[in-house]
Amino acid sequence: MAILPIIKFPNPILTRVSVPVTEFGPDLKEFAKDMLDTLIAAPGAGLAAPQVARNIRLIVIDDSEIDEPHYVRTLTLVNPEITAAEGKQVYKEGCLSVTDLEANVNRSERVEVSFLDLDGNPRTLSAEGRKAVILQHEIDHLDGILFIDHLSPLKREMYVKSLRKKKKDKDKEPQKS
Ligand code: NI
Repeated sequence: MAILPIIKFPNPILTRVSVPVTEFGPDLKEFAKDMLDTLIAAPGAGLAAPQVARNIRLIVIDDSEIDEPHYVRTLTLVNPEITAAEGKQVYKEGCLSVTDLEANVNRSERVEVSFLDLDGNPRTLSAEGRKAVILQHEIDHLDGILFIDHLSPLKREMYVKSLRKKKKDKDKEPQKS
């Protein structure tokens, strides 16, 4: 079991477009297992490889609902792609890489996703509601997009400013010797 460090906005790794996975060996399986350990320890609803500083197209999600905390339903998706989307929903999102912010984001209500499993076999999945949001949020990460990029420019700028101020305040704190 390995818990990987999660990088935070504004780390530029988070804004890169990740490359497709082409090798399906033991290294990939071990990395996916570490991603799941990291997600469950966080805890979070989803984690994308760029968040642990690897720009490859792999995501893990934990679809357990809040009212069933001991029931973990995890899924690993390699090279996931949204092949169909319909309907609209507004969902309050946060992100393990975006500290101290939750905000409403417009998403599709239903999505169909094609992906590969850890052996490279093609799979598909349909999801709606919360699970559809998690999938859209995590797949965005693979294209260098964070949920704050879906906010209005003013809201996003307010967040960036608040982060800068926090950093400044922290830098001002007297050093402990
Ligand atoms: Ni995220």
